Amino acid sequence: MARLPILPAALAAICVAGAAWAEEIGDAEKGADLFSTCIGCHEVGAGARDRIGPHLNGIFGRRAAAHDGYPYSRSMQRAGDDGLTWTFETLDAYIENPRALVSKTRMSFRGLKDPRDRADILAYLRDFSDNPSDVPEAEPTARATDHDLDPAILAIQGDPEYGEYLSSECLTCHLPDGGAEGIPSITRWPVEDFVVAMHAYKRKLRPHPVMQMMAGRLNDEEIAALAAYFRDLD
Ligand code: HEC
Ligand code: HEC
Repeated sequence: MARLPILPAALAAICVAGAAWAEEIGDAEKGADLFSTCIGCHEVGAGARDRIGPHLNGIFGRRAAAHDGYPYSRSMQRAGDDGLTWTFETLDAYIENPRALVSKTRMSFRGLKDPRDRADILAYLRDFSDNPSDVPEAEPTARATDHDLDPAILAIQGDPEYGEYLSSECLTCHLPDGGAEGIPSITRWPVEDFVVAMHAYKRKLRPHPVMQMMAGRLNDEEIAALAAYFRDLD
């Protein structure tokens, strides 16, 4: 489980860029300690094996659910098939709230809310890439961002009748009884999960282009209305 040393070049880059930059990027040593929140399920480092979760060596740049021999959930496999790839941004969103990115993920982890803690863990995991120097230290838009939804958006009470009016287009693909080949059921979901999933498409954190377009056209009220309608649809 030894940590690989930080490459001298990367270290030099940190020093040159100075303190403001250093604040932007995670601290891998702190990340090593914080990884204790993951270690019950994930191993990383030399000799790491799959446990409850897959080992996390070389996770950066890899497709979701791409690790041979590990039994991923169908939800995670679908995300991988859609093209979800693990970058700072997608990893950050996933460990902040796993279900926002992958609805029925088997990773039962409530999420790390502190962006600094997530940045530190990702800095630690980055060191276990095949070539850490190829993974950018920081993507300007991806550091310490809060992907969590504004509580005000989650608090909107959706109007199910308006939701019904908006739903006809959705129902051309999502069958009301839920069963459709390759198209997931969206009925009887908790409102919060539904809203969080739709906003993840809207923000393009979730990769599916059709759903990105569908969600991109909807405002916060409309998403809440659809969530309220589909929650009670038999
Ligand atoms: C309670 C067990 C558990 C904890 C705690 C947990 N995970 Fe997971 N993790 C899983 C499982 C199970 C999966 C597979 C999910 C699936 O197939 O839907 C997974 C999947 C992942 C994946 C996707 C891997 C891939 O190959 O696509 C990443 C990345 C990940 N976890 C990171 C983390 C990090 C970082 C932490 C700590 C902050 C963490 N996990 C905490 C169980 C856990
Ligand atoms: C052209 C077909 C199509 C239309 C129209 C469509 N969807 Fe989807 N939807 C899909 C597909 C395919 C997926 C699976 C995408 C993926 O893998 O991320 C999906 C996924 C979803 C998910 C996430 C499901 C999950 O298990 O993670 C939600 C929520 C959703 N759609 C809601 C809607 C709503 C609400 C509408 C109407 C505004 C709508 N969809 C319109 C095809 C469609």
